[in-house]
Amino acid sequence: MDPRPARSNGGPPSWLVRVVAVAAGSLLLAGCGGGGGGGEGSGGSGAEGYPDREIAFIVPFAAGGPTDTVTRLVAEPMSAKLGQQIVVRNVEGAGGTVAAGEVANADGDGYTVLMHHIGMSTAPALYPNLAYKPLEDFKTVGLVTTVPMTIVARKDFEPNTLQELVTYVKANADKVSYANAGIGAASQLCGLLIEKEMGVDLTEVPYDGTGPALTDLVGGQVDFMCDQTTNTTGQIKADKVKAYAVTTPERVEALPDLPTTAEAGLEGVEIGVWHGVYVPAETPDDVVAKITDALAAALTDQAVVAKLAELGAPPAPAADVTPEAHRQKLQEQIDLWAPIIKESGVTAGG
Ligand code: MLT
Repeated sequence: MDPRPARSNGGPPSWLVRVVAVAAGSLLLAGCGGGGGGGEGSGGSGAEGYPDREIAFIVPFAAGGPTDTVTRLVAEPMSAKLGQQIVVRNVEGAGGTVAAGEVANADGDGYTVLMHHIGMSTAPALYPNLAYKPLEDFKTVGLVTTVPMTIVARKDFEPNTLQELVTYVKANADKVSYANAGIGAASQLCGLLIEKEMGVDLTEVPYDGTGPALTDLVGGQVDFMCDQTTNTTGQIKADKVKAYAVTTPERVEALPDLPTTAEAGLEGVEIGVWHGVYVPAETPDDVVAKITDALAAALTDQAVVAKLAELGAPPAPAADVTPEAHRQKLQEQIDLWAPIIKESGVTAGG
């Protein structure tokens, strides 16, 4: 389990919530534009014969959760394209930073690959002693998808609408439990927006991933959470959870009856969870290019596209499935979140 967030007194002013909302909204709306940014240009050649053995694809959260789902979806066609087995491995802990630290220190030979999400850009601000630097210790391979989030609750939780949830949480803030996947997780960021928008301080229950968190939500052990559609769509459709809203400016095709947070009266809670693939910084560029090609092939695979659509998560456009576009996105997002997080007072400690 991860440490609870340490908070400064109170929370950020309401302008901050707006900034976060606008910034997070841009995650969904803005493409990376392709090109620009550029990598470190360390070049190097190592692609001859690559890959000639199995590749480890590291997931920074628990099995069965949204990051795991996206990784396993693309891993199969990537494996077919590369002609080698890809073994997905879950390295949980500290909101995804344990896995990222492991990959940052792995051999830069293309046999250790990381899937990570928006948390790659927020961790430097959240973790004062972070053991890696996202822009220096990794090469970006390409963007994968941007996933909407949903606010969901245990089936027998009293509030039936988002407005009722706001009223209930305000009246029972000390009793209501909010599940997340630790500091740096998308579910924690979304919770931050919810707290600020509602003006409450929730009791957070951190897990190693929202896979196990959602299991506990369905089992009634926690009250509510904000999680990616790649994890919640099935449970919402099966009527196993109560769903209040989706955190996108527009409704999501996979869940057409679910109002947006703005429609439901909580417009400050708008966020999309972008994902990208990384390798250690020393990985030769021609090896990175082979992994990028495999990722691009996976994201146009009809079965992958159909499954992502079913889960409310569109594949990244081809122009964004490049190291350059991904690096630019990462840089922009680090710059975007650093002041927001600093202002929020949330930190994983010294
Ligand atoms: C997961 O895979 O468990 C999630 O991405 C965790 C999160 O970021 O909320």
